[in-house]
Amino acid sequence: MHFELSEENLMIKQAARDFAQNDCKPGVIDRDTNMTYPYEQVKTMGELGFLGMMIDPSYGGGGMDTLSYVLALEEISKVDNSCSVIMSVNNSLVLWGLNEYGSEEQKKKYIPALAKGEVLGAFCLSEPEAGSDATSQTTTAEDMGDHYLVNGTKNWITNGGMADTYLVIAQTNRELGHKGINVLIIEKGMPGFEVAKKEDKLGIRSSDTHTLLFTNVKVPKENRIGADGFGFTFAMKTLAGGRIGIAAQALGIAAGAYELALAYSKIRKAFGKEISEHQIIQFKLADMALQIEAARLLVYKAAVLKDQGKDYNTASAMAKLYASEVAMKHTVEAVQIHGGYGFVKEYHVERLMRDAKITQIYEGTSEVQRIVISRAVIGK
Ligand code: CAA
Repeated sequence: MHFELSEENLMIKQAARDFAQNDCKPGVIDRDTNMTYPYEQVKTMGELGFLGMMIDPSYGGGGMDTLSYVLALEEISKVDNSCSVIMSVNNSLVLWGLNEYGSEEQKKKYIPALAKGEVLGAFCLSEPEAGSDATSQTTTAEDMGDHYLVNGTKNWITNGGMADTYLVIAQTNRELGHKGINVLIIEKGMPGFEVAKKEDKLGIRSSDTHTLLFTNVKVPKENRIGADGFGFTFAMKTLAGGRIGIAAQALGIAAGAYELALAYSKIRKAFGKEISEHQIIQFKLADMALQIEAARLLVYKAAVLKDQGKDYNTASAMAKLYASEVAMKHTVEAVQIHGGYGFVKEYHVERLMRDAKITQIYEGTSEVQRIVISRAVIGK
């Protein structure tokens, strides 16, 4: 075990930090307030290779490892979590599964444009009545011989309005339960596919989150990923990797709030000295530093296990659960250290506090992560 990052890891981390500070930070408050999509930043992420980081260069990707990916996500999440969720969904929830399980034709057709950021992808699992309980899919993909007929509604879909390529999980054979679920590639513009309500959210407000409606959408059989009935396993495997990305996002949120609180504590004076000279603030900063470092080790471990081809299912759930709890707890503390300034937008920490909440909800709530971890502990 060694704790050194490689030269390549460090270069990517620095590039992401520069991008976050130079391209994301200006205007981040306005975009959040007005729910303005970060068009320019997404374009730049594509040019910098952040939207297809782990895809082989022969398919237009960056050919990087998962550790580099989490380092980049951590830096961007310190500043702009709308950008980092767009990046995370495209890399982890869309490209990873297409690359791992797609046919050669599907890979050639869809991956290069997604990996270069020319188009975006969306992962469509959640439904009005199927969030944590992912086997209870009501969206149907009826087998019509040479095609599927898709009907149903998907909720809270990140990149919902901006994507071109949608991975849609749907039930084909209800009697078979989770073994009757398929995953289909649906393209924007297919008749019967409609982008509906845009959500007005607590956090990650400039990311694009929509309800999607499917009414008799005719999807060719060749758009199914994997064998008949593979959809639920596909979703679970994809989410296991996706949780590493969200864990990195949560880590970045916590670390970003900590950096701001630490800097502020050294300039703000109260009772005759910098507040960092007061023990009550020092203890808060010590707890933040400790728990953020512990979260970082869990996140990097999950990424390294994935890079080594080892099982990372439990490690990713642990990383996401812990990092998201640290993010929530310490963004609240960062606001507290800032006092009244923490409660206004200009100081950024209130936004990070709002952004932290979603990391305990999406890609599996904290309760779902506890289910995954406890099953591993018990040996089920
Ligand atoms: N890898 C492979 N297979 C897996 C798996 C994994 N990680 N986890 C479960 N499976 C398999 C099981 O082995 C089982 O298969 P067999 O019957 O063949 O053995 C099958 O899947 C069913 O598993 P369970 O019985 O464990 O299923 P369950 O109904 O008890 O659910 C759960 C388990 C962990 C709660 C799961 O439903 C889950 O992860 N739910 C949360 C879903 C989620 O993360 N939703 C978020 C939506 S996406 C999102 O947020 C995107 C965004 O926009 C940012």
